[in-house]
Amino acid sequence: MFRNHPSLLLAPVVLAASLSTPVQAAEKLTYYCSAEPDWCDLMATSFEEATGIKVSMTRKSSGETLAQIKAESSNPKGDIWWGGTGDPHLQATEEGLAEEYISPMRGEQNDWAIRQAESGGNQTIGIYSGALGYGYNEEVLKANNLPEPACWKDLLKPEYKGHVQMANPNSSGTAYTTLATIVQLFGEDEGFEFMKGLHKNINQYTKSGSAPIKAAARGENTIGIVFMHDAVKQAASGFPIKVVAPCEGTGYEVGGMTIIKGGRNPESARKFYDWALTADVQSRSVEVKSFQVMSNKSAVPSPQAPDLASIKLIDYDFEKYGSSAERKRLLKKWDDEVSVLPQ
Ligand code: G6P
Repeated sequence: MFRNHPSLLLAPVVLAASLSTPVQAAEKLTYYCSAEPDWCDLMATSFEEATGIKVSMTRKSSGETLAQIKAESSNPKGDIWWGGTGDPHLQATEEGLAEEYISPMRGEQNDWAIRQAESGGNQTIGIYSGALGYGYNEEVLKANNLPEPACWKDLLKPEYKGHVQMANPNSSGTAYTTLATIVQLFGEDEGFEFMKGLHKNINQYTKSGSAPIKAAARGENTIGIVFMHDAVKQAASGFPIKVVAPCEGTGYEVGGMTIIKGGRNPESARKFYDWALTADVQSRSVEVKSFQVMSNKSAVPSPQAPDLASIKLIDYDFEKYGSSAERKRLLKKWDDEVSVLPQ
């Protein structure tokens, strides 16, 4: 009864056809991510689900990812770089490491995201924004009889010695944003004096930007200089973390997304780029407690996200501090004049 079933009769023909036409290679994407690891994972798995494109991901801090893309530039391995502070993304555009692309989704983005694209010759775009600040573990602070800090300059007080942690500005975009913010806020000379004073109180320079507040959440550190949304994430996860917007004012980031020049899967990279700029995808950031302000104007904001309008923000000069020469100069100066000092 099954012998004459039409599908069985067709089977050899189908097989012959599939042998004679070349099999289409499965679509792939090599994705470099510099946001929080749980958000990076969510983006990778939901893109795979949405498109069937196989994603292979590497998560590294912003400065480290820039260094990797540079090192691979004669034989690029990555297709797209998503997340991390915008300054190193801008540096990538200036150094010929990025591909120009204007997404059909551009019209749905906030002005600050488009401005970032325009300063980078349309080779990068803003995807989120967030203010810099710090957070502290209230219990550890109390247990050590320390006063509650409220300003940047409070962090220089000798009683905080060994209680402050930040990342290394060479590897971390968060820490580079800190250095550039302090220089813009206080001027270069006073700013470097501040960094030297702060150095005396630092217990460790970590590789990743958010590590200092994760350590504070675990009670292994007291104060972590981080983006405020990273401190809110720990508080929202139930840890005794208080979030501070420093009284003098503060800088902020415009997180970036960049297509890597010469990547092997440019078509997949553009699909990811368009998809990542949609309101639906961006609204999912709260699922992993990522409380940045998203670039798509229709992305649903979380009530827990820091309200940027209520924070005293400096007019951060992304063009200057994202330029290759300025970033290299400031990092070298920090290496030569700050990191080498005894503590
Ligand atoms: C965290 C923040 C992001 C930021 C990133 C920079 O993941 O949530 O908003 O862009 O840090 O990472 P980095 O390790 O380079 O400081």
